[in-house]
This record gives sequence, structure tokens and C-alpha cells, in this order.
Amino acid sequence: MSQPIETLLSALRLVPVVRLEELPSASGLADALMAGGLPLAEITLRTPVALSAIEQLANREDILVGAGTVLNRTQAADCIQAGARFVVSPGLDPELVSYCQSRDIPVFPGVSSASEIQAAYNLGLRQVKFFPAEAAGGTASLKALAAPFHQMQFIPTGGISATNLLDYLDLDCTLAVGGSWMVKPALYESGNFSQVTELTRAAVQMAKRQDD
Ligand code: 3PG
Repeated sequence: MSQPIETLLSALRLVPVVRLEELPSASGLADALMAGGLPLAEITLRTPVALSAIEQLANREDILVGAGTVLNRTQAADCIQAGARFVVSPGLDPELVSYCQSRDIPVFPGVSSASEIQAAYNLGLRQVKFFPAEAAGGTASLKALAAPFHQMQFIPTGGISATNLLDYLDLDCTLAVGGSWMVKPALYESGNFSQVTELTRAAVQMAKRQDD
């Protein structure tokens, strides 16, 4: 996938957050996301197979793969080595951010306070993850936090699903929404990925801009 992450994010406005339990599921999951119209996956470093899955999907031309739950510079280096094209963190670690910037890899650290947003801004970032979106006060918090930072765009993630997706996408400060609701392992336990495709397609449809 030659398109940069920024282009895909502003076009699709969705980031599927994947917790992959078994490596053999990686390609089926990628196919299911593609079939649903979402050529993008954030593979979280929460399982032993995550790095291998990133490596496997990075070899495909049709999908853009990034790494999530990246906690430090060492993990970021491993993910980039495996082929991750973007890096997502639950929190803001300046060393990790600077490292990704030095490698020219887009990095989206998690923020949930004005101080963290300000720190991210001063690190040169203009796009960050708002995490954990629902637990941190949802759209009301995001709106209030975004107001003084009009240069910043947010990827709210955490507790979002088809039921509240549009509330976030309606905000001008939202670049894209992240979530696992369309890629939960329970949806494809038996190796049947049709539910993933169905939920992905529905999410992609909802995330389409009205004027498209
Ligand atoms: C993340 O890893 O960014 C979030 O935990 C995803 O949150 P969700 O599972 O509530 O969508």
C-alpha cells in the first residue's frame, strides 16, 4: 500500500484496532477488512504474535499496517523493522515520539488532558489519539479540550462502536475514529470472517462524508 497513513485517515476516518491472538488469522482478517472497504489495520502489541503479524501484513500491497500499544522506543524500532508504517501509543512518551519522527514514521500518541495535548503540540505533532475516549469524558471532553488547540486533530479511541461513532465524527477536530468493535477476535473465532466484513462495511458507510 503506497498511500500514506494521513491520506487514508482523512479519506476513511476509521482505524480498526486489532488484537490478534493467532498468526494464521492475520491474512483472513486483512482480507475481511479489505472486503469491507477498509485497507488499513493497527495491530496492537498485546499478543505474542503481533510483530509477526505486522511483518506478514506489511508484505501485502493492498493494506496499510501499523503498530498499536507501542510503549517505548525499543518497541517502536521493532515494529518499524517489521514493516509498520505508523505507530500508535496509549500515552505520550517524548522519547518514543522523537524516535519515530527521526525515522519519518507517523506517530499518534494517546492524550487525554490539556497538558498532554500541549506537550504533543510542542513535540511538533498535530495529530494525536484521544484515549480512552469514552472513559475520559467522550465528545464533551474532546470538544472542550480541542477548543484551545485549533491546530490539532484527534483520533478518539476507546469505547467507540457503531452506536456512538457519528457523535465523534461530527466534531470538526476529529480526524478519524479508532476502535475494535468490527475486529474483535470473538467475531472470527471459527475462521469465518464474514461478520468482520459486515461490521466493517457498515462502519465505512457511516464514516463516509455526506458530500462524498
Ligand atoms: C485501543 O487499543 O486503542 C483501544 O483499547 C481500543 O478500544 P476499544 O476496544 O474500546 O475499541
